[in-house]
Amino acid sequence: MQLTRDRKAWLEGPGAACNSRPEHNPRPRRLVLLGAPGVGKGTQAEMLCAKLGACHLSTGDIFRAAKAIGACERSPALAAALQYMRRGELVPDETVLALVSERVNCLKCEGGFLLDGFPRTVAQAEALEQLLKKNKLSLDAVVSYELPIEQIVARLSGRRTCPQCKAVFHIDALPPKLPGICDHCGATLYQREDDRPESVRVRMEAYETSTAPLTAFYSSRGLLCPVSAEGAPKEICARTLEELRNRNP
Ligand code: AP5
Repeated sequence: MQLTRDRKAWLEGPGAACNSRPEHNPRPRRLVLLGAPGVGKGTQAEMLCAKLGACHLSTGDIFRAAKAIGACERSPALAAALQYMRRGELVPDETVLALVSERVNCLKCEGGFLLDGFPRTVAQAEALEQLLKKNKLSLDAVVSYELPIEQIVARLSGRRTCPQCKAVFHIDALPPKLPGICDHCGATLYQREDDRPESVRVRMEAYETSTAPLTAFYSSRGLLCPVSAEGAPKEICARTLEELRNRNP
């Protein structure tokens, strides 16, 4: 299966129409990706979604998409959220949960989903559990990517992102065909402001304090699926699919 899913309803909110055709997915997967900032969750999410026909739902992408709309059109909560993000801090749970709740149709989609960057705290994980239960849904697995910190920092410092289609590159490991230009839509790539060293340090601390405890949370529910994030993106994707097949043949 090789499907590209439309993320308009996720990125822009419930007012936006989604052009996906979920009836083409015979086996919808509902997954969460965990791992430190820069471990490669977004890169894997893109590859896995193309293989599984699920939709890539990243909360970080919602905030980055919000930057593109005019400052006066942003709600006060969204404007405050962008300040937290710029500093590398976590956005408050209630703001994140409000954004996810108003996009609940994306979770109910018959094509399945792959959540990237959410949940990020135990409170968010508990709220997701309730939201899914209310809609008679459940997670298939929670993939937890693991990599030594020095490799993570190298991945973050070389990352380049497309402002239009959100594609992610790396100056050494995953370079675009033309330096600084997106392979997919031709836009000029940029370096995320939260990839500056001072923000990276804050993000790593937030991960250790708030997000790392999620591995125990999901382990206690029998959902945790640890995967090594070493090696090339294609190898990691193949490793992940194999782990998922082993869990749910
Ligand atoms: P978010 O966008 O979720 O960022 P993150 O978790 O910090 O993760 P990243 O996007 O930085 O990294 P990634 O693991 O996706 O790595 P990538 O694939 O890009 O969140 C940003 C901010 O939003 C947060 O700090 C917070 O403020 C806020 N936020 C979002 N959700 C929130 C929530 N639920 N609650 C509260 N706040 C929230 O890869 C990194 C680089 O490595 C790329 O250049 C890539 O090309 C390269 N690379 C990938 N794989 C490989 C490989 N195998 N080998 C070599 N290079 C590789």
